[in-house]
Amino acid sequence: MKRHLISAADLSRDDALLILDTADELARISDRSIKKLPTLRGRTVVNLFFEDSTRTRISFEAAAKRLSADVINFSAKGSSVSKGESLKDTALTLEAMGADAVVIRHGASGAPYRLAGWVRGSVVNAGDGTHEHPTQALLDAFTMRRRLGSLEGRRVTVVGDVLHSRVARSNVLLLATLGAEVTLVAPPTLLPVSVDSWPCEVSYDLDAVLPKSDVVMMLRVQRERMNAAFFPTEREYSRRYGLDRDRVAKLHDEAIVMHPGPMNRGMEIAAEVADSARSTIVEQVANGVTTRMAVLYLLLGGADLGGEDK
Ligand code: NCD
Repeated sequence: MKRHLISAADLSRDDALLILDTADELARISDRSIKKLPTLRGRTVVNLFFEDSTRTRISFEAAAKRLSADVINFSAKGSSVSKGESLKDTALTLEAMGADAVVIRHGASGAPYRLAGWVRGSVVNAGDGTHEHPTQALLDAFTMRRRLGSLEGRRVTVVGDVLHSRVARSNVLLLATLGAEVTLVAPPTLLPVSVDSWPCEVSYDLDAVLPKSDVVMMLRVQRERMNAAFFPTEREYSRRYGLDRDRVAKLHDEAIVMHPGPMNRGMEIAAEVADSARSTIVEQVANGVTTRMAVLYLLLGGADLGGEDK
């Protein structure tokens, strides 16, 4: 495995499977009453969040703590970044503190890549602009595997604001590596120009794709990144690309519904669908902790996972 996890493309099939298998093992351990493992004792993980986050930040913090690492949480608000300190100077400060891993979320695509050139520890991309979010793709793959078994030949449909979604790009790359067949469904205005070179199919007709899908992954409409009108009205968007009860009825019995969160309930997904038995949305959050534990454990080369009583 490479030293950093910046793109889902950094992962070979063997790397990805190793992370998922390790996460399975860690999930078994997490079922025990004492969740904490001594594996990363004495190691320091810095969470460097320049963009808002609930799930991802808490999830990385919980993952590092369960492995007994020392965790430093840094958010741009209230730090010297608001005084204009550059990413490079922030990185040098972290370096001086001896961070073994830096988990970074940043509004600029490519920021984790630059950071990797300035620090000695491992860099984990927790979302950079509209570029990538590899641990989200890993936790999604982990969730799919738990519900559906092997991903080989599985059909995954990713629907919505692909243009602004780092989750979509990382998922397409990782799922292709794992042998799944991905179809993106979005209005043409919400697809990146480069999508032709992605390892997936594209469709504009959600109703036609649903009956063949094993997984439907809904994406949030990212209004904060929209500087123009990408669709006529919210109602129109919902009508054509939203997942409501009638659309869910087109899925086969085992098919699952996913969303990385945060959701716009009533927009890309109806509340009753989000809360239904097919929905894995809450599981995704729980699986995020074990998957990130696996990533930190493997990147930092932690000691034995320990305990025969798995
Ligand atoms: C996603 C993100 O931040 O890229 N959320 C997440 O990490 N759970 C998706 C989004 O913001 O819509």
